[in-house]
Amino acid sequence: MPKRHFRADDLLPSEITPRHVFEQRRRLLKSAAAGLAFAPGVDALAQAAGAQKLPGRQSGLSTMEKTTPYKDVVSYNNFYEFGTEKDDPARNAHTLKTRPWTVKVEGEVLKPREFDIDELLTLAPLEERIYRLRCVEGWSMVIPWVGVPLSELIRRVEPTGNAKYVEFVTLADRAQMPGLSSPVLSWPYVEGLRIDEANHPLTLLTMGLYGEVLPKQSGAPVRIVVPWKYGFKSGKSIVRIRFVEKQPITSWNRAAPQEYGFYSNVNPDVSHPRWSQATERRIGEDGFLQRKRKTLMFNGYGEQVASLYAGMDLKRFF
Ligand code: MTE
Repeated sequence: MPKRHFRADDLLPSEITPRHVFEQRRRLLKSAAAGLAFAPGVDALAQAAGAQKLPGRQSGLSTMEKTTPYKDVVSYNNFYEFGTEKDDPARNAHTLKTRPWTVKVEGEVLKPREFDIDELLTLAPLEERIYRLRCVEGWSMVIPWVGVPLSELIRRVEPTGNAKYVEFVTLADRAQMPGLSSPVLSWPYVEGLRIDEANHPLTLLTMGLYGEVLPKQSGAPVRIVVPWKYGFKSGKSIVRIRFVEKQPITSWNRAAPQEYGFYSNVNPDVSHPRWSQATERRIGEDGFLQRKRKTLMFNGYGEQVASLYAGMDLKRFF
């Protein structure tokens, strides 16, 4: 990816800033996060929702871009199990019971097992990763997620040589999820990654955001975040992870295969059949004069992930 496609603030800080300056900015951000000076209202809102603290150590894989205000992160969501309007999940997800919670890991692995949510929280030191999330609908956010690399889980179950893909199955319980009465998608919500994508250091098994346990509308108690792909690849409230030989059939691909491919890498050169993907609206920056941002190839993570797709025609494998 030629450098001229990037803006300076779209690069990872470690690539553009001398280490000591980078460290200093990180410390500043950290102290800002402690006082939450850059996101007014986080504490009050999170406490009102009864949120528990879940701090993570700062990760060098974070973007230095301004984070999206907490109130937007928790009130503008896609989580169709709780309704299709952006404010439905915040209004309806209180019925989700997030404990006890287990994730069953099975399929092409030598050591299939169930992980309790508390085990997932202690798989590895929790990290805070500030990632961009770009939705296929044309909006984006910058969110400080808290989690551990998914590879930490994968390592423990020892995939066999037949494990080419990983399928993520999320909770589908009509008693807790009013949106399941709508046939908008086939339930449960299913997503998938190629095994090398799942093992990539950027792929985060996510249990928190903004230093708190995940709010229910954000996919509590555990979701995936794959920052170089459109947001729908990041399944919420995961209950099963299956290692399989064949490419999984995912919910969005099943619903509209011509619109939502399996890969779904953020790609400004591949338009959605009904709209362009060249630009995006950053949530929280709305305003009459606010210009849209140019969408970056792989959501700005090309340096890290482009090699996964070497030789592939990304217009065909969209
Ligand atoms: N996971 C489940 N289980 N159900 C969903 O409807 N929506 C996806 C993804 N994960 C969805 C899901 C879509 S379309 C997006 S853009 C992201 O979640 C949004 O995540 P956020 O609301 O935390 O920003």
